[in-house]
Amino acid sequence: MLDRYNRNINYLRISVTDRCNLRCTYCMPEDGVTILQHKDILTFDEIVDFTKVAVSLGINKVRITGGEPLVRRGIVDLVRMIAEIDGIDDLSMTTNAILMQQFAKPLFDAGLHRINVSLDTTNPEKFNSITRGGNIEDVFKGLEEAKKVGFNPIKINCVIEKTSSEPDALAVKEYASKQGFEVRFIPMMKLDKGIFGQVEGGEGGNCASCNRLRLTANGFIKPCLFSDLGYSVRELGAKAAIEMAIGLKPESGTSNQSGKFYNIGG
Ligand code: 5AD
Ligand code: SF4
Repeated sequence: MLDRYNRNINYLRISVTDRCNLRCTYCMPEDGVTILQHKDILTFDEIVDFTKVAVSLGINKVRITGGEPLVRRGIVDLVRMIAEIDGIDDLSMTTNAILMQQFAKPLFDAGLHRINVSLDTTNPEKFNSITRGGNIEDVFKGLEEAKKVGFNPIKINCVIEKTSSEPDALAVKEYASKQGFEVRFIPMMKLDKGIFGQVEGGEGGNCASCNRLRLTANGFIKPCLFSDLGYSVRELGAKAAIEMAIGLKPESGTSNQSGKFYNIGG
């Protein structure tokens, strides 16, 4: 479906949970994270029904995000249900890969064949400090298993502080090229004031060609990461909510006062 700026909206990012098994400093506060209530989280059937309607309105690319999608109980079943929807040409997931060693094979068999993995450093101590407690070996093992079972491509999302030539970025690039993974460098956005402004470059920077909609874990369809607009799927129904989101998708992003990536899904 075309929006009023002639952008063809064909890409849906589905956040399946606001929870995460890490606490990356640039993404989440150390504690006092507000967690959605169970009753507010869309069920698998609601997500699948919504996605079918979205596909009927022109979506053909779907990405599963979080929080961390692998902490949603039953995620393999949900992936299978989504993979079975006719009309999705490209299904992917963004994950921190902490749990990927155990999930790679079942996810692959369920129909997910490509992943983006967040990794900002190859240094175990630095990883532990960025993620406030994560073990980088889990990520390495997860990536190894994903490669082994056939995920392709495997892309690494590497958040950089300033440039892609800083030491951690170079180390991630070297690790990735040895493993045959692609790397995308993502400039860090400052969320500390509860506001994130427009990004320059990287993901989300190109409003003129933005083809995305986002479904939050609690059932709001959002036309733009950098705006507070959101339409409740439960209140409006999928079709009306999607039509409103596409109809009102802003020409470019401004700011988002809620400032929470882990619910909106990166
Ligand atoms: N700046 C840039 N990217 C971020 N992400 C989360 N928080 C930020 C931030 N402040 C992105 C990262 C991570 C993904 C899950 O979300 O790319 O890999
Ligand atoms: Fe979790 Fe990803 Fe946020 Fe890190 S960036 S806390 S892995 S959702």
